[in-house]
Amino acid sequence: MRTIAIVNQKGGCGKTTTAINLSANLSNADRKVLLIDLDPQAHSSIGLNINVNDLDKSVYDIFSGSFRKGIDNVAVPIEENFYLAPSELILSAVEQELSGKLGRENVLLNGIQRMRENFDYIIIDCPPSLGLLTINALRVTNEAIIPIDMSSFALHGVSQLMEIINTIKVETKHEIKTKALLTNINPRTKFAGEISGKVKEIFGENVYNTVIHRTVKLKEAANLKIPVNKYCKNCRGAIDYQLLTDEVLLSEKEITEKVPFELGPKKVNGKIVFQYFDPDAKLVQLAGDFTNWEENKNINLIKNENNIWETSLEIEPGSYGYKFIVDGKWVKDPFNPEEKIEAVGIVNSQIYVE
Ligand SMILES: Nc1ncnc2c1ncn2[C@@H]1O[C@H](COP(=O)(O)OP(=O)(O)O)[C@@H](O)[C@H]1O
Ligand SMILES: [Mg+2]
Repeated sequence: MRTIAIVNQKGGCGKTTTAINLSANLSNADRKVLLIDLDPQAHSSIGLNINVNDLDKSVYDIFSGSFRKGIDNVAVPIEENFYLAPSELILSAVEQELSGKLGRENVLLNGIQRMRENFDYIIIDCPPSLGLLTINALRVTNEAIIPIDMSSFALHGVSQLMEIINTIKVETKHEIKTKALLTNINPRTKFAGEISGKVKEIFGENVYNTVIHRTVKLKEAANLKIPVNKYCKNCRGAIDYQLLTDEVLLSEKEITEKVPFELGPKKVNGKIVFQYFDPDAKLVQLAGDFTNWEENKNINLIKNENNIWETSLEIEPGSYGYKFIVDGKWVKDPFNPEEKIEAVGIVNSQIYVE
């Protein structure tokens, strides 16, 4: 499972074009793909021929309170192995509606948590801003592709974006691998060379070998509301996005092995597995409603060879608050965004057992 956000607060740098074409190509490579359109302008949805004025459900439903149902309820099939969670303009109200609400940065994470395993790839097309929607995307993502177009303001704001990504990495202790993608390249101009040099200074190794050339074919395919490979198989735009897809596929093994992000409680063989990651901890215990919070019932977790502390319990269906006790210190589960407010100032992690 990989979750990739296509992110850059600059508009027009190729986020939506990349989201659509990468998703379509990955599904052609037999990967099950969900594209989440997180831009209220709904360009990914419109670009896949969805009538956004006539939607029963959209990603807005996840943010507006009925999100416990999960994003699988709002996803619509585009093609075999390719699903879209469409957007609509009202999504732009989320910023205000959730302002000041606890957990507002984790709404998308809650919404997709339970069905992540249904997909091989979740691709998120971010809006052109660094607001709450983009933060939500970065909270769920293991990777970010940052398209950088060859215009005079190409690198404007990139350092701010990287700062936000770093803050989220530290806060949530999860890896976000960022990689720049050069887009809209006209190799004949000297300018392109200058910018790609600067991008390499900032991103070092983390730049895709593939570059996306400027080509009218991508615009034409977008106007027809189809991925470029359906419009012309061997044209520049189709080839470029196929090369990008090949590069993304090539790193599959490397990524899934490195990211400890799939931690968090999960059901395995009828039991609930709790996991905590801390290579330096000496003792990790678990307490919760299921132990009645009685100290003598605290459950010791066992550390496996990957430094992941684990235990599995049989728990009756219901909703439970819990916390880990790491070397005597009480902590919420950093890998589970679901929280339960017990009383003023007391917040536990929460799990629903079905
Ligand atoms: N490589 C390219 N060559 C030519 N036109 C492109 C290219 N990439 C994107 N476009 C066009 O540029 C516009 C903006 O691209 P888009 O992917 O929507 O950017 P963003 O989502 O970052 O705002 C769209 O009209 C799109 O069709
Ligand atoms: Mg866009």
